Amino acid sequence: MDLIEITGGNPLEGKIRISGSKNASLPMMIASLLTEEKVELSNIPNLSDVTTLIELMKSLGAAIEVDQTSDFGGKMTCVTKNILYTEASYDLVRKMRASFWVLAPLIARYGEAKVSLPGGCAIGIRPIDFYLSILKRMGVTLDLKDGYVYASVKSRLRSINFTLDFPSVGVTHFFLMMSSLAEGESVLKNAAKEPEVEALAEMLNKMGAKITGHGTNTITITGVPSLTGTKVNVPPDRIEAGTFAIAVSATGGEISLDSVNSDEIDVLLNVLEQSGVEISRSKKNLKISADRKRNSPVNISTAPYPGFPTDLQAQFMALMAIANGTSVIKETIFENRFMHVQELARFGANIKLKGDTAIIEGIERYNSAPVMATDLRASASLIIAALSAKGKSTIRRIYHLDRGFDKIEKKLRSCGAVIERKED
Ligand code: EPZ
Repeated sequence: MDLIEITGGNPLEGKIRISGSKNASLPMMIASLLTEEKVELSNIPNLSDVTTLIELMKSLGAAIEVDQTSDFGGKMTCVTKNILYTEASYDLVRKMRASFWVLAPLIARYGEAKVSLPGGCAIGIRPIDFYLSILKRMGVTLDLKDGYVYASVKSRLRSINFTLDFPSVGVTHFFLMMSSLAEGESVLKNAAKEPEVEALAEMLNKMGAKITGHGTNTITITGVPSLTGTKVNVPPDRIEAGTFAIAVSATGGEISLDSVNSDEIDVLLNVLEQSGVEISRSKKNLKISADRKRNSPVNISTAPYPGFPTDLQAQFMALMAIANGTSVIKETIFENRFMHVQELARFGANIKLKGDTAIIEGIERYNSAPVMATDLRASASLIIAALSAKGKSTIRRIYHLDRGFDKIEKKLRSCGAVIERKED
């Protein structure tokens, strides 16, 4: 297994092109199974989650070609004339929770599916009760046994009105895909408003779906009998952009982020400004400058979009752990998303946990340490700590990092970081 070795202490200086969004690519790739025509996606990031999903889609009968040779994003074409197999196995679904969403095209196009219960990052219980209620209400017969969901429906899916107890991103994606091919008008209330939901809805509309209200909390979908092929560009990854913005805030220096949607990380940028970082923003570019003074502490609470993203909580904690004072971070989305705390402690961080809240006493500076990544975003927080620590740190279990950060070492190295991947 590989590890990453970082000799910290250098400021980050340079320019980084932000890759296509992981969390937009995955539902967009799955949506290409909804049609028998050709779908072309560009700006696909080069990530292990993308590779896992391609493998899964191929196993269902999709013909997929991928070209990941360009530094300006990958291209994928997908043709699924017929869904040939309707089983998404444990081996493929356990690696990534989003795989579970293939249930939508399988049931909508084929009327039958056997999909393993999902896995993914161990950041909480992550139930699937909303998915199951939607399936049942749309007329699908369900059986849960031996770790699989067996689903079948005899006729076209029924349209429904559904109110989510919580604006779940995945369930909103799932609802959009299912109801686009259902009979009649469906309405989703308390829907997620994340930009990735908007990206999926816009792609589906280009495929002939009739979706309105995406980006607000009520989405209306009029089902159509079939969808067509399309050509779309995956939007930039707001979490990757936010991670680099936090990294330079911790190390000091100045980086320019190209190909970003600055508005989508407004909440983070405001918090960074409050902590003393200078930011100049235009629509597609961000310049972030931080001197090597310690940042001021800022309290945050994660929340659904447009609130502070849970996917940036670990990275922001790594910054607050070396701030000049005490800060409080509350995690409201996932109940177990604090596994980075014990690893940050190895760098010397002083963080106490009380339920869903972390109380962080800023320390002067991190020391170097050997640490272990516990989940995807936690691994980015360890990279940030190692970049700002004095001396050489090693980060193990970096397969978590490869799920969601495209060419991260190359990008950081181009900004002066001393970072290397090695065999353990
Ligand atoms: C998506 O996960 C993202 N994954 C996550 O990113 C992200 O952290 C999360 O949304 C929140 O923004 C992808 O897009 C692939 P949810 P998802 O359903 O859809 C509860 C990363 O690091 N819930 O919005 O799985 C659930 O337990 C990843 O890139 C139910 O109770 O998250 C959680 O508390 C990790 N019942 C809350 O909703 C259900 O049936 C929000 O989760 C479904 C969800």
